[in-house]
Amino acid sequence: MAFPQTFLEEIRNRISVSDVVGRKVKLQRRGREFVGLSPFKPEKTPSFTVNDDKQFYHCFSTGNHGSVFDFVMETEGLSFPEAVERLASEAGMQMPDRDPQDAVRAVNQASLLDVTEASAKWFEAQLKTPAAAEARAYLEQRGVSQEMITRFRIGFGPSSRTALVEHLSARDMGLDKIVEAGMAIKPDDNKAPYDRFRDRIIFPINDARGRVIAFGGRAMSAEAKAKYLNSPETPLFHKSRVLYNFSGARQAAYDTNNVLISEGYMDVVGMARAGIINAVAGLGTAITEEQIGLAWRMAPEPILCLDGDAAGLRAAYRAIDRALPLLKPGYSLRFAILPPGKDPDDVVREGGAEAMQALLGKAMSLIDLMWEREIEAAPWDTPERAAALKKRLREATARVGDKDVRALYGQDIKARLDKLLGEQGVPYQNRGGPRAKQNPRFRSQPTSEARRSAISRGVTDWSNREALIVLCVLQHPALLVHERDRFETLEIQTSALDALRFEMIDYFDELEAPTETDAGLDNGAFTRHLIGKGKQEICERLVNMSEARRMSFARRESDLEDVLAGWLEVARNHHKLQTLTTEQKSVEAELEIELARDGTQNALERLLAIKNEIAALERGDDSAA
Ligand code: UTP
Ligand code: MN
Repeated sequence: MAFPQTFLEEIRNRISVSDVVGRKVKLQRRGREFVGLSPFKPEKTPSFTVNDDKQFYHCFSTGNHGSVFDFVMETEGLSFPEAVERLASEAGMQMPDRDPQDAVRAVNQASLLDVTEASAKWFEAQLKTPAAAEARAYLEQRGVSQEMITRFRIGFGPSSRTALVEHLSARDMGLDKIVEAGMAIKPDDNKAPYDRFRDRIIFPINDARGRVIAFGGRAMSAEAKAKYLNSPETPLFHKSRVLYNFSGARQAAYDTNNVLISEGYMDVVGMARAGIINAVAGLGTAITEEQIGLAWRMAPEPILCLDGDAAGLRAAYRAIDRALPLLKPGYSLRFAILPPGKDPDDVVREGGAEAMQALLGKAMSLIDLMWEREIEAAPWDTPERAAALKKRLREATARVGDKDVRALYGQDIKARLDKLLGEQGVPYQNRGGPRAKQNPRFRSQPTSEARRSAISRGVTDWSNREALIVLCVLQHPALLVHERDRFETLEIQTSALDALRFEMIDYFDELEAPTETDAGLDNGAFTRHLIGKGKQEICERLVNMSEARRMSFARRESDLEDVLAGWLEVARNHHKLQTLTTEQKSVEAELEIELARDGTQNALERLLAIKNEIAALERGDDSAA
């Protein structure tokens, strides 16, 4: 039987060649391809390659070459229809009906694509008409440039009831097709179909090959019933299997080996305007398995960009549950947590691409966030509660689909639990619960003013390492009993942190021969004093630092001994880096003089050595860098 082209294509899209081949051949990633030993001929050096992007394999030693179907036929001796059947069932797809309708269906899809493409062109043209003045003003006010309008084919659907239907009908497209493609709505009462997208800004949605298959329409007024209206499910468009801008971001994702998954159309457009073009978006629903699979075709560790508020965190947690069964060697998700109430579009508009890159640079791994989720979920300060934590983590680990990944998750989680719970001789009641329960004062959302200023301060004048150093003292004022002098003399470049540090020292110096357990060094009293000195905003920012969550020693509930050890390491590192950076500057200056005298060798060598040392230090200390 002849299979419809779209059906075969869907199988190829859902199943990567490397997955199927990987069961027979041990593959290693090399750039955009995988390589391995030929399954067709014994060999010692790999000459067999798989390219998921191009959806084929090639064997240089035998010249054997083909699609995922060919591979199954070649290596399992199946006929083509059998290979299709096998792979279709793996992809969870129903075989098409065995009737001549198949050919009809293929033609039908093609004609639906004509409808959607003609609609896209028409929407684009409408955006240039006088009727779209408000739409153009809206886009301009949101910072969407003409270049982005062209790139994303942004258009406008006027408020007329049937203008699009008329336009398409005049071009010989049948009403039923127009409705089937989702462009018009047919009322039940046999009245004439009317345009679906009226008085909205239009974002065309493409398939993997860049063909328009659906649309999203944004209302311009805040009072509109639905902010976005999207195409319904059609033969062309299955929302759960599409990522907005997949085709547009693909090349950039390959080039950077990274892809960002945001939540909205405007995030993709906003980031592109700032030069971040490897971004896609879900379509308003929680990320699906198919979407994770699509993203993995672009890069092995897509970064989900999420609002740092409670809803965003819930979305991240849901994504963890979706991803666990799908994890496989080399493939995972990462999570960039944005400031509360911000989406990527806001971040780039306020802080430029650098602000976004800084957040992406701090993306958390899936296992870190999974750990975080369980730690935050409930206290672990009694044996029963600790056992419950252990159980939750074991259950999550068990859901990892791949055997090797699951085993390594198990090891990693066990090590973390041992560290968290294994401190000998510490009674449970002294271990404290999660941060959430400990520090209600800081659980409230920062004011929007505070958030805005935190963002606009940007990243250049804020060092996370310095923040961590100060945060530890904020959480554990008793540190000062041991390390007051070191704290006072540390080089702190971030002016707000520097000021806070001296407030802390001043306060400490007022105490009479304080000891570790001095009432004045109680965390609450200490913080209240600082808030009284106008330091509330910065204290909140410190306590909410996402980096700190990963550092057990920065937590409020950790033992002073651990805190001291962790703090000293970061502080020493910081001092060393500061010294090296100063030295680097002076050698660079020296180098300039030597360059003029043409005696560069010495300084160059020293500069290189210093740079290497800095790089090594920053690697060893990346989470705090
Ligand atoms: P957002 O509300 O975050 O939209 O919804 P956005 O893209 O940032 O748009 P602006 O900045 O408010 O203009 C995220 C995505 O959820 C879907 C859309 O795909 C949107 O891009 N959505 C949202 C809907 O489908 N319907 C809605 O009513 C709202
Ligand atoms: Mn937005």
